[in-house]
Amino acid sequence: MGLLQKLLCLVFLVLFVVLFSSPDTASASVEEANAFLKWKGTLANSSMLTTWILDPKKGSSSTASSPCNWFGVSCNVEGSVTRLNLTDSSINGTLETFPFSSFPNLAYVDLCMNQLSGPIPPQISSLPLVYLDLSNNEISGNIPPEIGLLTNLETLHLVNNRLNGSIPREIGKLKSLSELALYNNSLSGPIPASLGNLSKLVSLYIYDNQLSGSIPEEIGNLTNLEFVYMDTNRLTGPIPSTFGNLNRLIVLHLFENKLSGSIPSEIGKLKSLKILSFQTNNLSGSIPPSLGDLTNLTCLHLYMNQLLGSIPSELGNLKSLVDLQLGYNQLSGSIPASFGNLLELTHLFLRVNNLSGHIPQEFRKLKNLLVLEMDGNQLSGQLPDICEGKKLQNFTADNNQLTGRIPKSLRDCSSLFRVRLEGNQLTGSISEDFGVYPNLNFLDLSHNKFDGEISEIWSRFPKLQSLRMAGNNITGSIPPELGDSAQLHRLDLSSNQLTGEIPKELGKLSSLWELYLNDNQLSGEIPREIGSLTELEKLDLSINSLSGPIAVGNLENCSKLNYLNLSNNIFSQEIPHQLGKISPLSKVDLSRNSLTGEIPSEITDLTSLEWLNLSHNNLSGSIPRVFEDMRWLAHVDISFNELEGPIPISKAFMNAGIEGLQGNKGLCGNVSGLQPCKNRFPVTRHTSQKKDRQTLILVIVLPLGGALLLLGAFVGFLIISDRRKRTSQVEDPPKCDDIYSVSIYDGRAMYNDILKATKDFNDAYCIGKGGYGAVYKAKLPSANVVAVKKLHPLSEKDDHRGFLNEVRALTEIRHRNIVKLFGFCSHAQNSFLVYEYLERGSLASIFSRDEEAKQLDWPKRYEARIADFGTAKLLKLDSSNWSALVGTYGYVAPELAYTRKVTEKCDVYSFGVLALEVIKGKHPGDFVSSLSTSAIKTVQLRDVLDQRLPPPSPEVEEVVMCNIKLAIACLHSNPESRPAMHIVSQLLATRTIP
Ligand SMILES: *[C@@H]1O[C@H](CO)[C@@H](O)[C@H](O)[C@H]1NC(C)=O
Ligand SMILES: *[C@@H]1O[C@H](CO)[C@@H](O)[C@H](O)[C@H]1NC(C)=O
Repeated sequence: MGLLQKLLCLVFLVLFVVLFSSPDTASASVEEANAFLKWKGTLANSSMLTTWILDPKKGSSSTASSPCNWFGVSCNVEGSVTRLNLTDSSINGTLETFPFSSFPNLAYVDLCMNQLSGPIPPQISSLPLVYLDLSNNEISGNIPPEIGLLTNLETLHLVNNRLNGSIPREIGKLKSLSELALYNNSLSGPIPASLGNLSKLVSLYIYDNQLSGSIPEEIGNLTNLEFVYMDTNRLTGPIPSTFGNLNRLIVLHLFENKLSGSIPSEIGKLKSLKILSFQTNNLSGSIPPSLGDLTNLTCLHLYMNQLLGSIPSELGNLKSLVDLQLGYNQLSGSIPASFGNLLELTHLFLRVNNLSGHIPQEFRKLKNLLVLEMDGNQLSGQLPDICEGKKLQNFTADNNQLTGRIPKSLRDCSSLFRVRLEGNQLTGSISEDFGVYPNLNFLDLSHNKFDGEISEIWSRFPKLQSLRMAGNNITGSIPPELGDSAQLHRLDLSSNQLTGEIPKELGKLSSLWELYLNDNQLSGEIPREIGSLTELEKLDLSINSLSGPIAVGNLENCSKLNYLNLSNNIFSQEIPHQLGKISPLSKVDLSRNSLTGEIPSEITDLTSLEWLNLSHNNLSGSIPRVFEDMRWLAHVDISFNELEGPIPISKAFMNAGIEGLQGNKGLCGNVSGLQPCKNRFPVTRHTSQKKDRQTLILVIVLPLGGALLLLGAFVGFLIISDRRKRTSQVEDPPKCDDIYSVSIYDGRAMYNDILKATKDFNDAYCIGKGGYGAVYKAKLPSANVVAVKKLHPLSEKDDHRGFLNEVRALTEIRHRNIVKLFGFCSHAQNSFLVYEYLERGSLASIFSRDEEAKQLDWPKRYEARIADFGTAKLLKLDSSNWSALVGTYGYVAPELAYTRKVTEKCDVYSFGVLALEVIKGKHPGDFVSSLSTSAIKTVQLRDVLDQRLPPPSPEVEEVVMCNIKLAIACLHSNPESRPAMHIVSQLLATRTIP
């Protein structure tokens, strides 16, 4: 070859390189840049992607078009994209528009914490992925089986999305996978046995889904596994004994499933195990002694199962154990003395088993104990010195058969926060055997054999909120110093032998919710200072020798009182009419006193009253007929008074029977055992007008036939406006016949104000969309802010009367758990309900954000308010709001699907769903349909608690558990079997979180 030829050859070669190879890589990077830009164009929010542009100065030259310097993008040396990391970059869009085929080298994709929605496209398998994280988005649909093609994948994170369907069996082909995290989705179906092929797997996180079926034995092949989190699913069947092969396992979480059978003794081979959590399953049999070989174990949770037999003493070998929880099983025998070797132990829960015998003296060696709970067993003998370490905070041993005095270390245990010893046979002096506890918050010593007098030391616990000493042999008087405990919420000294007067200083207990002094020998009058207890909800002074009038002080200031029991005393004079102002009162017992005069008609202003006992007094005159309007009143006893005349015609009086009416001067009425009334008695106040007017109008209306409905509505008006005069709470009747309204304000003015405040329901004022319509925030001229829910306008055909009656009833409900309904307006253009306005948005939106959800701790959740209460009944289900109802799907009672008849029991159902949502932190979904009546007995707390919150304290737990049971009762498939809403509301009111 000549030189020229060689040269030409070289030139060609250079040209070739220049013309083909270089433009080739350049065009690849142009293609990648353009592919990214195309996807960017589909995003609803790409504000973080400002660097994702072609540089205009450099035109389309190769470097200008390279995405390698763009935010979140990394390339290999050839300039091709290998990584895309857009963690927490406000990306809002879908993966469906992502150009997967344009990135031949993209191996790391991290898109977690964005707002991606829609499914995972199967095309994702065309990427050579090593790492894929799509967690914390809103991705839905199935995991595509094509995922199995990603054979290089080492890390797959899809947590916290809305994935459903089952885990594809093809996932077993991901031979390189070491981390699989799918938790917190809605995945269902079985765990595929093919997971047993993932021999490199170290971490398996599939908790918090709805996975069912049994755990495949093949998981036992995965000998590299260190972390197994399968909890909070619906797994059944036994724990495979092959788990004994997982000798690198550090954490094994199987709790909150429906696993059965006994705990395989092979678990004892897991020498690396630090955390074993099997609680809240249906595990039976006894605890295998081999668990004593798990010497690295720090946490052993077996509570809430059906474990039997005695606790193996081998558990005393678990020298590293910090947290041992065996409560809520059927364990028997005694507590092993070897527990004294668990020197690291801080938490020991043995509550609610059948344990017997003494608490071992060796417990005094447990100097790190913070929490010791052994209540609900049959433990006997004396308490050991359990506070030698001076760290013990929570100690519960209530409801056992413990005897003897409080041991010295416990008496001097200044770290105590919560102590429950009620229901034992403990002895000693109520004052001398107790020290000073600067942190003590809750103390229950009720139903023991403590004696002595209450000394003023009991006023020196600055954090004490609940003090219960009922049912002991305590003597002497109540020390006035007790009034210095301004932080006290509950004081129960009932059923002792206390004497003397109630000290007026108790009026300083400004935080008091409950005061029980009943069943003592107290005398004198009720101090007028009791009227200063504005937070008081329950007051029981019954069974004492208290005298004088009830109307001392300003009892009506106790505006939260719902339970008042003054029975079995020697109170005299009249029943104070001020009682009628304490509107939350639901149970009042004034029986067995020496009360005189008439029953004040103001009592009938107590619209929440359900239970009234006035028996065994000297009351005279006739019974006010307005009792007929007391819709919740269910129980009445007026026996053994001097009453006469007709009994009111209401359910309560009819149900009272002769037992509740006998022993009076001359009652008559339609109850067997009473004389029938000869003529109607002289009627007090407006009630006669009402009846007359109704009859009059009916006489006019009946012949008019066709116009009946319209006039029916008119009758409704008259009745409502008439009732309003009487209840005085509700003032102006509607002034103009084109606006129907029920309101505690002037209906027409409210209608106009709201229209003005929302600029005719302008979207700018819309704060949310509920099932039945949009909700607007309206600031009224009075500066009150209200929430307005806009409904479909009522048509001529609608039953206005029934509707308005219902709204009126709802406006009268005053309950701390229910958002106040102020009223309702309807006009040809607009119908709306007006509610109290509360900050924070809807539950669903709060619960979807972990941080906000965490701020809603248990006490806050318990008081969470419910709007829309009762309004289901207000909606007739024609086609138009039938579709609106689809929006509230999941809250609507199942029978509506076929009956289409909305009843109060539908509200009860919706309430049940909502209550579970509050507790669970998300819509209970299929949990509801999985419930059956038998489930009520077996439902377990961990099935339903929001895992984002720390577990509730035992007392809170009790309340929450009660509420879960109540909620489940509300979800009964037979509407008849659900409790009535006012019962629900009463039960809620009687249970408060301390
Ligand atoms: C995402 O964009 C859609 C469509 O524009 C919008 O409706 C939605 O509210 C956005 N999501 C978030 C969380 O910003
Ligand atoms: C993505 O970036 C975040 C921080 O910006 C980092 O924590 C994360 O590890 C990165 N992901 C990958 C796969 O490199």
